[in-house]
Formats: sequence, C-alpha cells, structure tokens
Amino acid sequence: MRSAKDFFRPLAVGAPAPVREVPFRPSRMIHFFDPGNEKMAAKVPSLAPQVDVLLGNLEDAVPADRKEAARHGLVKTARATDFGATQLWTRINSLDSPWVLDDLLTLVPEIGDKLDVVMVPKVEGAQDIHYVDRLLAQLEAKAGLTRPILVHAILETASGVANVEEIAGASPRMQGISLGPADLAASRRMKTTRVGGGHPGYVVRADPDGDAPRATFQQDLWHYTIARMVDACAAHGILPYYGPFGDIQDVTACEDQFRNAFLLGCVGAWTLHPVQIAVAKRVFSPSPQDVAWARRVIAAMGDGTGAVMIDGKMQDDATYKQCLVVADLADALAARDPELAEAYAAAAAQEEAR
Ligand code: GLV
Ligand code: MG
Repeated sequence: MRSAKDFFRPLAVGAPAPVREVPFRPSRMIHFFDPGNEKMAAKVPSLAPQVDVLLGNLEDAVPADRKEAARHGLVKTARATDFGATQLWTRINSLDSPWVLDDLLTLVPEIGDKLDVVMVPKVEGAQDIHYVDRLLAQLEAKAGLTRPILVHAILETASGVANVEEIAGASPRMQGISLGPADLAASRRMKTTRVGGGHPGYVVRADPDGDAPRATFQQDLWHYTIARMVDACAAHGILPYYGPFGDIQDVTACEDQFRNAFLLGCVGAWTLHPVQIAVAKRVFSPSPQDVAWARRVIAAMGDGTGAVMIDGKMQDDATYKQCLVVADLADALAARDPELAEAYAAAAAQEEAR
C-alpha cells in the first residue's frame, strides 16, 4: 500500500504534480467522433462550441485496420483545432490490446498539452489505473508537460463493478467513471442485445385480481450499477456519467435513460450522434425553475443551519446542500452558455416577483 503522504507526489521525476481536486468543468455531453473518418474530423471545429467535451474514439467502433488512421487523425485534428472552452478527451484502446501502448506513446508527446482526459475502457480493478497512472507520469515527464492528464474509467466489466470503489480511489488522476452498458451486458451474460436503455422483457407483474388483466411495469436494468457507480464516485470526489444509448432514433427513451442517470447523480452522458446533443443538454442542465427554486431556498436558509418553511415545504441542511449543488452547476453552465444564463436570470426574476 502506498503511504498517504506519497499519494500526491508525481509518479515520475519531472512529471506535473497530481491534482488535489477534480476540476468541475461542465461535461453534460461527451461527444464521440472517429478521428480517422475525414468527413467527421472536418466537422470538429464547428462541433466544438456546441458540446462540453469532444472525444476522439480509438477503441471499439474503429476497425482493426483503421486503428493507426484514427490515432494519427486525432493528432492532426487536435493540433489544427482551437477547442476554446471545450475539453478534448480520447478513448484509448483497452489495456489488453496490441494498440494501446502506441496510443499513449503517440498521443502524450504529440498532443498531451491539449488532452484533458484519457478514457480507459474495460477497467477491471485498481491495477489497471495504476498501470496507466505510472505510464502517463513517465510520458508527461519526457514530454515536459506542466499539467497532468486526467483518467476516466469505463465501468463495463463484471470485475470492474465488483471493484468500483477501489477504481474510483486508485489515483488522484481519476476524473470520473462512465457506465458502459454494452460491454457490461456482454461481460455479465445479460441478454439485452442492445446498447443501453431498458428491455421490454424486464418487468414486474401486478398480483392477480380475479379475471382482470394483470399490468406489467418495465424495470430499469441499470439502476443498481448506476447507483453503485455514483456512490463510489461521490465517496472519492470524482464524477459519474451514463455512457452510450445505441438507439439513435429513439430520442424519447434516450432522454428517459439520461434523466434517470441525472436524477441519480450523474453529471453527463455520451452522445454518439448530433441528435443526442440536444437531449443531453436538456437533461443535464437543471431547469430554470429548479435553479430559481434552489436560489430561493439558499437565500431563505441564511447560513444553512436550522429549518424554514417555503410554500409549505420543509427545508433544512440537507435540502440546502442539494440546492447548492443545483445553483453551483447552474453558475458553471451559465458561464459557458449565454442562452442558459438568460433563461436562469429570467426565472430568478420571476421567482423574486412572486
Ligand atoms: C461502452 O463502451 C459500452 O460498452 O457500453
Ligand atoms: Mg465498451
């Protein structure tokens, strides 16, 4: 076990000091693009201002004979693009693949100064994070980087779920964790044959009542895993995300899945197609009414102790803290999104006039 005193020391001489807190930058949507696809890469400059995170995907969905093209495409796009306030992430190949070493050996020296986060797929335990942690430190030192690249794990193996707490706390580099429902389903022998979302066969049926038809209620396949992931992340001060929703046309079910994740504590989700960007934006930005309400509770609670009644609803320390989460998120989003800033200001003015 490493001594707690060593935890914030760089893992290589000359590597940047690890961060003590995960920077809370808006990341409502992590938008995936294939950097080896020239048509897609050409859209990156116009996509960047529309999303919080752009992610150059090198792993699944990129065929084996396109791995190098994707890696080099990402270097080219990163160098040529001014991302403004949008973060640039990449998803490297899995640690058991023949491509991942070249991914890191290429990306860190070439574009390490532009990369905010490296997403690591199929993480099984803390040992996987430790491997990437040390390697990144060595490469950062060699490249002379001054800011550490953060690490994001995908929760998509049964072992990963069993070890999620140790993964979340494995390194100060850990930025967050995403649920990967497709690989997780495969790893667990689930029978969903789809990427995320519900399944019509996963139901609870009402008790018999004479001859009346018995209603069924579809249940959420992902509730347990998301809740567990959220707890692990919150306990370690890192951020939880819902991953992909594969049925691009079903924006309604996509929105439901995203909203369940949002309400359970996730801060964002992956978007695989431009139509999902608006969905993620809608879901992961608190509504103007909720923000106005949160500000009203915060103002009424003063120093946050004691209890007050507002419109017949009891508010205390716990609701005050929930309201702070909403108000802080709204401030961070408003600083980035003038449309939202306006909507929040208008709702606050309406609330004050009541
Ligand atoms: C994402 O990578 C998933 O497997 O769902
Ligand atoms: Mg996967």
